[in-house]
Amino acid sequence: MLHDKIKQYSEEIAAFSPSSSADVENFRLKFLVSKGIVKTLFEEFKEVSTEEKRVLGKVLNEFKQLAEAKFKDAQEQFASAKVDLKNEDDLTLPGQGFSLGSRHPLSLVRKEIVEIFKKLGFIVSEGPEIEDDWHNFSALNFPPEHPARDMQDTFFIKKQDGNDMALRTHTSSVQVRLMEAGQPPFRAIMPGRVYRNEAISARAHCFFHQVEGLYIDENVSFADLKQTLYHFVKELYGDDTKVRFRPSYFPFTEPSAEMDISCTICKGAGCQLCKGSGWVEILGCGMVDPNVLDNCNIDSKKYSGFAFGMGIERVTNLKYEIKDLRLFSENDVNFLAQFESEII
Ligand code: PHE
Repeated sequence: MLHDKIKQYSEEIAAFSPSSSADVENFRLKFLVSKGIVKTLFEEFKEVSTEEKRVLGKVLNEFKQLAEAKFKDAQEQFASAKVDLKNEDDLTLPGQGFSLGSRHPLSLVRKEIVEIFKKLGFIVSEGPEIEDDWHNFSALNFPPEHPARDMQDTFFIKKQDGNDMALRTHTSSVQVRLMEAGQPPFRAIMPGRVYRNEAISARAHCFFHQVEGLYIDENVSFADLKQTLYHFVKELYGDDTKVRFRPSYFPFTEPSAEMDISCTICKGAGCQLCKGSGWVEILGCGMVDPNVLDNCNIDSKKYSGFAFGMGIERVTNLKYEIKDLRLFSENDVNFLAQFESEII
């Protein structure tokens, strides 16, 4: 008998779905007050046989917890809506606001970068994140034994036919796809996600974002590359930002350089972010190696051009002083809500 009652009331409680705070109060009066159902069932429990007590004791306690938990949930549900409930008929009350999401900082910065280059006549182009060896390495003049192909850096995807694929390690693969698909002039900007086999820490991640740039035409020179990037830095970080180029090496550019800007945080005085040097590297660049043009069926005697690739995370860190890369992919609302919200 008692068991049946508990079962029946449990079902009623499970199905209880209040639509006002009055419903919540009625629930309390029915189940939880001193003459309510919970207490009454405990009274009945005293009368059952010792044998039954052994089984029913647990069931009854669970029932009590269920009723209390349901009441607590329902109470919380209506706590914030109290004002409305008290004034149910007051149609002059303002509507309840709802908060909009905000744009991810990386999306904001990517958009800003793309807008600057669009004004210079660059189009936006994208390519796949799962790439073959040709587009990610071979066409870009990586020798067969180049360490970047190593398992250490690249995530490979095994395929049954033996033609393994890789998660692209840089957006330079999109340069190749673009050039293979047509003939110069090319003037394109290529944003996207890239992957490297690195342990996740505040300073490194196994995926991040890059923006690649490519400009191929007749008579393009290193001076064009420098002028384009000077303009970009001034637009993004302001006129007083200093720029310097350091010679570097990439298999797909010759000559190659890395570009530093004066640290936006300490203005060149030296701080933690620039490790005291006053400079921060933001991109790699260079004149496209003639071998790459030839690999893409572009006449390297007639055409020349430049390419560059920058990490969006790095550019964003400098703009917003974000010290831990992991924040970008943890989806912590407290972090994300600090950035501009926008109706799309
Ligand atoms: N792909 C290079 C990197 O990921 C950057 C780069 C792009 C360098 C284009 C030169 C030209 O580090």
